[in-house]
Amino acid sequence: MVDLMRLDRAASIDDLRAMARRRIPRFAFDLVDGGAESERNMRRNCTAFEEVELVPRYMVDVSSIDTRTELFGQTYDAPFGMAPIGMLNAFWPGADLSLARLCKRQNLPYVASSAASTTLEALAEAADGNGWFQLYVSGDDTVTEGLVARAEAAGYDVMIVTADVPAAGKRDRDIRNRLAVPFRITPEVALGLMAHPRWSLETLFHGKPNIANYADLLQSATSYADVQKTLITPAFNWEALKRLRDRWGGKLLVKGILHPDDAARCTEAGCDGIVVSNHGGRQVAFGPATADVLPAIAEAVAGRMKVIVDSGIRRGADMMRAKALGADFTLTGRALAFGVGAGGAPGAARAVEILELELVRALGQLGVPRFADVGPEHLAVSRSHVPGSVR
Ligand SMILES: Cc1cc2nc3c(=O)[nH]c(=O)nc-3n(C[C@H](O)[C@H](O)[C@H](O)COP(=O)(O)O)c2cc1C
Repeated sequence: MVDLMRLDRAASIDDLRAMARRRIPRFAFDLVDGGAESERNMRRNCTAFEEVELVPRYMVDVSSIDTRTELFGQTYDAPFGMAPIGMLNAFWPGADLSLARLCKRQNLPYVASSAASTTLEALAEAADGNGWFQLYVSGDDTVTEGLVARAEAAGYDVMIVTADVPAAGKRDRDIRNRLAVPFRITPEVALGLMAHPRWSLETLFHGKPNIANYADLLQSATSYADVQKTLITPAFNWEALKRLRDRWGGKLLVKGILHPDDAARCTEAGCDGIVVSNHGGRQVAFGPATADVLPAIAEAVAGRMKVIVDSGIRRGADMMRAKALGADFTLTGRALAFGVGAGGAPGAARAVEILELELVRALGQLGVPRFADVGPEHLAVSRSHVPGSVR
């Protein structure tokens, strides 16, 4: 039984993270909570958003707040969606389907990872019109084409191709935890399982999580290197993006953009949008926070395509900050993952509730009744380098 009273007492995403940490064995918690090397980039993502100050304007009637946001022909109830997360069922059993169904219920987009622990077809059905598909380009063209064709057949209209994994991120926690692919029961893992019987029983009940879209192909994999080769190629380049653009009839986005020139090039390649992202700080510890690079990217794109941002969104106000810095929409990975880890489907629902309530309150406090009207003019003087902000 999930303790609903306990979930009610969670005031923030950080509280849900603390609950998840207690319920989940260390190796599985670290799999989601961890970042690259020193984790400097992961931490900086959150502080960079926190440091963005917005100036409230008063004596504006905010008795009715509208958080609806239009994107690619669909109107979502709030300006955030679930970012693609691979193998999330290893964090909490059944997490993928819980989140896909939740996004449908709350009218938010759900991005199905090609490395998800549930097939893209099952996730399309659960998200029921609110699903987007995220593609990793494989070293084997037939694998990539197979996924694209399946995504098309499953009815996805939006495809996000992830560009920021030319080399796998080095996650020190996973190395310390001796996390192995394929999954093996090491002594550390066995201890973790014994200390978390609920997680262990649920995992037993749901079955060992795998990368469902590639289940057959990965049968023969004996090392992480094998898995990596099937999933992602280091050779993905602009010509390959062009080929994908020609192949995919729906909306095409590139995820992992951190430089204004790359953003401009995505526009020229005919993309419909980009996700300004550093993979939640899981790829390069030396890279910049997304909040820091967002204004220059939004300026380079100049409204020619949609700009979505992720990495470090933990509060409703972060969505306003992102909008003021030039984003149209946000995604969050860990915020909803921590929710599902804290309490399964009800925990994920609590995460969405917290973010939405925070956003509504923050818009009222900022004096902007419609999220769509948040802009650079709301930035404090400390951000005066952003075009259009207060000078
Ligand atoms: C455990 C984990 C797995 C992820 N797997 C994928 C993936 O399969 N594909 C992808 O494009 N991004 C993946 N990401 C990155 C997320 O889509 C997103 O960019 C990131 O979580 C945003 O940062 P946040 O967690 O601070 O919100 C993953 C992130 C985490 C934490």
